[in-house]
Amino acid sequence: MIDKATIQKITETADIVEVVSDYVHLIKRGRNYVGLCPFHNEKTPSFSVNTVRNFCYCFSCKKGGSPVNFIMEKEGLSYHDALLHLASKYNIKVEEKELSDDERRQLNERESLLLANEWAAQKMEKDLRETEEGRSVGLQYLYQRGVTDEAIKKFRLGYNLDSGHSLSEAAKLEGMDVKSLSAVGVLGESQKIPGSYYDRFRGRVIFPVLNPSGKVVALGGRDLKGGMAKYINSPESPIYKKSNELYGIYQAKSEIAKQDNCFLVEGYMDVIGMWQSGMENVVASSGTALTDGQIALIHRFTNNITLIYDGDAAGIKASLRGIDMLLAHKMNVKVLLLPDGHDPDSFAREHTPEQFREYVKKHATDIIRFKAQVLLKDVGNDPQKRVMAIESVVNSLAHIPDKVKRNVYIQECSRILGVREEVIEGAVEKSRGDVVERQRRQREVNQVDLMGQNENNPQPDLSKQLSTSRGREIVEMYPYYPFERTVVFHCVRYGILDFCEVEFDDGSHDMINVAEFVAEELQVDSIWFTFPAFAKTFNRILDLKEDFITENVAFLENLEERKKEMLKNGYDEIASKDLNIEEIRRAERLLEEKVNEELAKLRFEFARYFIEQKLSSHHDDDVRRTVNEAINEEQPLSNIYIRNNPVSERKMELDRMKVLVPRGVLEWKNEMLNQMIRAKMKQLDSMLGRSTQEEEQKILMETQALMEKRGQLGKVMGDRTIGKKIK
Ligand code: CTP
Ligand code: MN
Repeated sequence: MIDKATIQKITETADIVEVVSDYVHLIKRGRNYVGLCPFHNEKTPSFSVNTVRNFCYCFSCKKGGSPVNFIMEKEGLSYHDALLHLASKYNIKVEEKELSDDERRQLNERESLLLANEWAAQKMEKDLRETEEGRSVGLQYLYQRGVTDEAIKKFRLGYNLDSGHSLSEAAKLEGMDVKSLSAVGVLGESQKIPGSYYDRFRGRVIFPVLNPSGKVVALGGRDLKGGMAKYINSPESPIYKKSNELYGIYQAKSEIAKQDNCFLVEGYMDVIGMWQSGMENVVASSGTALTDGQIALIHRFTNNITLIYDGDAAGIKASLRGIDMLLAHKMNVKVLLLPDGHDPDSFAREHTPEQFREYVKKHATDIIRFKAQVLLKDVGNDPQKRVMAIESVVNSLAHIPDKVKRNVYIQECSRILGVREEVIEGAVEKSRGDVVERQRRQREVNQVDLMGQNENNPQPDLSKQLSTSRGREIVEMYPYYPFERTVVFHCVRYGILDFCEVEFDDGSHDMINVAEFVAEELQVDSIWFTFPAFAKTFNRILDLKEDFITENVAFLENLEERKKEMLKNGYDEIASKDLNIEEIRRAERLLEEKVNEELAKLRFEFARYFIEQKLSSHHDDDVRRTVNEAINEEQPLSNIYIRNNPVSERKMELDRMKVLVPRGVLEWKNEMLNQMIRAKMKQLDSMLGRSTQEEEQKILMETQALMEKRGQLGKVMGDRTIGKKIK
């Protein structure tokens, strides 16, 4: 782990313009820069870099963040690795921090597992070339299948000698930890003689699976002797979750981003075959159906995916699986069927790279068009099948977010299916409502996922309970999640700004900031953030008040100096002009106004951006993600306002904050009352006729009281804060 001081040094040194410039051609616009967004394909620049806040943001795809976040996203790195990346860019020496025993244990375990895989992969790469057996068996096999030396090197292919003990013996000799080698499945422990180990991949050609940062997380071994198991793979382990990895992603990621498209194939050899034919933007799901985690991984680099399958029945069926999931992820999906009996590997062997690429260009079909055609072929004269086919297409169409795009498809599918356009359109629009609602829920879940998920640095408390498949449960577990989110986001943006003055029992006054206002409002009704990442972030924000007060003093002293200097320069300039006494007075008054205005602005900005400065590169994943999401979501004010009227920019923002923050809290409380009222009414419903009038009356009164409270909510809060005391 990197110590705090070094992290701070890295985040303070890393300059957003320099970091982004490694990937994007930036054009200067005033204080800031713009360029073409590196996260999605575009022709007009919507990617902007804010030099003052050391922050970048895409107005179109909404990605961006601090330099650390930018590198995480762009290079597909973990927080830790992104820091190392920046440290090496800026020649910052990284000091490793003292770890707690628990941290050390977890980290050590991961590291030693990665080390075990890396050691085994290297050994087997070497054995492929440097042993007689490796050359005559392993290398011979690969050559015979047309694999080039270049590909062998790129994909780090290897060979596990057939003796059965080559790795276990080498491990002993070199002092490698056999327990780790066995935990990642490189070695197996003998059942007959406990404590004795054998090579699990013996006699196989080895395909290492690298994660996006190039770490060997798993191995696949191809049988060469016609045995029962064609491949054996590493078991799942703390470093390998099969459903989150894609074979080839490390080798393909930059090309995927560059081509803005990703080919998805089934197997190891298919990836290599395509790569050798010059289509380097290719990954494999390794024979299983695509998962949400894998789609998200591809989505980091592109929105466009081309599925490649064998043209036989199984291939066609496979290609239709998971369409809606891809559409819901807003991926543009194409499918390419190879001639019956071919996979990309065999096709590549029988054709030149030019022919292959030509075939891809010609035959890649839009997935929905493809689906309609395939289903129709199946229908024959069966009217029931026909209805089902139409329903299935309609359901896919309803997943397309863009209305224009949807309409184009409706026209086309109407033609293919021989059904009137209005009929399909009506059905799609009807089904669309459900889809939107489902997606809204899913989005909330995804946001939750985003905060819990971190493949390189699993968070025991969150990532486990928040995996995608259990997403619904999360919203069930945290029914106020969206409301908490709004409020915590406001606090990230405005938390340290003064909110209002409060009066204590002894008559003294004090200024509280936005976050403290929220805390008080919640405590009055015994509410608190239930979603762990939000609670954690909110507490960090409250903690920052002390830091702010101290640092603000230093900042203001500095500002005083600056003021003196600005005034002195201004007075000198005025004095150097040939002015009469009246004119001098006027010029001096103007100067003082201008300087004061400038200083007010700096003071405001210091407070306004204090939280994001402190927390946007925070070491805690939950805090950092929450803060960056909040900043990314921020709706900037129009440029015209900012350029022409700095005073009103601040005033507008303050006005807005003073409305938005109480409203956020109010809506949260309102929702709580709604749910309580609903519960009471349900209770009343079930009581009717089955209990005494008195009992019914009692519940009725309670419901009434809750409703009244709901009606009063806005007014009460207004009285307590908004109306009276805000200055
Ligand atoms: N696979 C696996 N275990 C198996 C069979 C297949 O893990 N017993 C995975 C591998 O990742 C394989 C992919 O599924 O690459 C596709 O399977 P298949 O088409 O059978 O293998 P190929 O990749 O075509 O291998 P080869 O060309 O060597 O037969
Ligand atoms: Mn094959």
